[in-house]
Amino acid sequence: MHVFVLTGAGISAESGLGTFRDTDGVWAKFDPMKLATPEAFARDPQHVHEFYNHRRCGLLAAVPNPAHQALARLERQLVAEAGGVFLCTQNIDDLHERAGSRHVHHMHGELLKSLCTRCGARAPCTHDLSILDTCASCGSLNCLRPDVVWFGEMPYGMEEIEAALEASELFVSIGTSGAVYPAAGYVELARSLGIETFEVNLAPSENAHAFDRALYGPATEAVPAFVTELLEAR
Ligand code: APR
Repeated sequence: MHVFVLTGAGISAESGLGTFRDTDGVWAKFDPMKLATPEAFARDPQHVHEFYNHRRCGLLAAVPNPAHQALARLERQLVAEAGGVFLCTQNIDDLHERAGSRHVHHMHGELLKSLCTRCGARAPCTHDLSILDTCASCGSLNCLRPDVVWFGEMPYGMEEIEAALEASELFVSIGTSGAVYPAAGYVELARSLGIETFEVNLAPSENAHAFDRALYGPATEAVPAFVTELLEAR
């Protein structure tokens, strides 16, 4: 069985990482147009660095929760049966990997990587970035940015994502508001392909109507329950 799983900030909420659109979310406290766009970075790179440096520190202090662990368990079981999970996350954290998921696609990039705006080199990054940094590959000064996809930029691996969805028998959306495209459109693409759709969330998302089935509750309870039900139902 091949399952396509899309995750959003809700799966990491109980690990202490903020969501974006909840009443206490990141965008309730900060203006995304001043922090998460190429124009904002061009205008004040150090201000943007400080925003992501703070989030990187929070991530390094966080640990995966039972929802991340349940998806890793699902992948292990399905791979053992010649199936698999295509885990497409909108999250820039590494909690899926730390929970043991082996095949994670970060469509919005990764907070623990830097990207050189001059030579395109990517490098692991667990430290603060600043305008005083130089690229280890090309030596340029003040050219590093977090390797995250900002508003107005193209998510990573769109063709790979759509090919994986076309090859799946089940589409599962976990912990996302369904507010940001292209991820928000994947459920409709799955439906157009005749693929069963399932939503696991704290509360119905903006596109809840598009799902065949749903399970609502905190991810640390709902995702393990979903995985157990899925594995037992085959
Ligand atoms: N368990 C499960 N779901 C939860 C929990 C929880 N404990 N807490 C919150 N949620 C749900 C909310 O109900 C909401 O539907 O998680 C979802 C979070 O939605 P958003 O904050 O909009 O986050 P997300 O959908 O991941 O945002 C998508 O927008 O800002 C950009 O790049 C950013 O990747 C992000 C994208």
